[in-house]
Amino acid sequence: MAAAVVRDAEAVLASVVHSQDAVHAPYGGVVPELASRDHVRHLHATVTAALERAGVGLVEVDAIGVTSGPGLIGSLLVGFAFAKALAYRTGKPLLAVHHIEGHLASCRLDADPLDLPLVGFVVSGGHTALYAMESLARIRLLGQTRDDSAGEAFDKVAKRLGLGYPGGREIDLRARRGNRRAYTFPRPLLGPGLEFSFSGLKTAAALEIAAAEARFTDGLPEALVDDLAASFQEAAVDVLVEKARRALAETGIPRLAVVGGLAANTRLRERMAELAAATGCEVRFPPLRLCTDNAAMIAAVADRMLAEGRIAPLGVEAFSRVPLALQDAGQGESLRPGRAS
Ligand code: KG4
Ligand code: ZN
Repeated sequence: MAAAVVRDAEAVLASVVHSQDAVHAPYGGVVPELASRDHVRHLHATVTAALERAGVGLVEVDAIGVTSGPGLIGSLLVGFAFAKALAYRTGKPLLAVHHIEGHLASCRLDADPLDLPLVGFVVSGGHTALYAMESLARIRLLGQTRDDSAGEAFDKVAKRLGLGYPGGREIDLRARRGNRRAYTFPRPLLGPGLEFSFSGLKTAAALEIAAAEARFTDGLPEALVDDLAASFQEAAVDVLVEKARRALAETGIPRLAVVGGLAANTRLRERMAELAAATGCEVRFPPLRLCTDNAAMIAAVADRMLAEGRIAPLGVEAFSRVPLALQDAGQGESLRPGRAS
């Protein structure tokens, strides 16, 4: 859960992230009920901390932005109830922001923004999707995963290797010491399109881990874990880089923004930099702390929506799933209204 104060859609005055990793770690994954309870407990303090760090009083704030989805509905509803109450109490406008639009905005925060149009690549725990961003509000889906996200594959493989939760960062760290060519894993490219599939790679890694466990009944040697992590990561990164290359070629857009939790991955950053050098395209990542979920990216979109007059009624609903809709700036709501489910 997170709260932030942002000025003019680009300057981050404060960005506070209250991590729930310790809450979910014993279960090896997110437990939705525990997530919403933790939101209830810490939301007020997180918002207060963001205002304090920014040195801004609530009265000075222009508007209140809140994530409306997609995500875990229980957690979204807690944030929504809080934001609506705040908007009602202060009389300030409420802006309902799509989570993915937030990620796409993150590469323009505290950084030298890329010109538009650009290809936006969202690689997070919940999404693996390529978008053509023609303007800030006109965003077209180019292709997404048919099954697991890349982040899910990283987290599952890490869990299978006993690396803790959330596992993506652990794989990243262990892979630095490993041999990327020690194991051969599939690179599912699904023909010429821009769709993804990571479930086969995840299963192939799980089978290789099971085979290693059968050989080493006293536990896997550290070097073998490093090699498995490095080989798995290289396969996933190969797919991500190849699809990004195709998206740039197909759209003819020479700019790529890579956002979401996996944009923090060292090897992905290295390989995307090589792609930039090879193609002459510009490739940009958000600062590390703005790759994983944060509220600064939500506030940045909220600020722009405020300027466009896209204010949400207090009866607006949160939704667990909804696609990012194709829209023209200034023409009504940027999101198709969805229902809580
Ligand atoms: O964007 P995010 O914070 O949440 C979602 O919107 O899903 O992404 C979280 C994902 C998790 O799967 C986490 O393991 C992964 O990002 N992640 C990483 C790294 N840091 C976070 N994966 C690979 N390498 C990293 N350095
Ligand atoms: Zn996210």
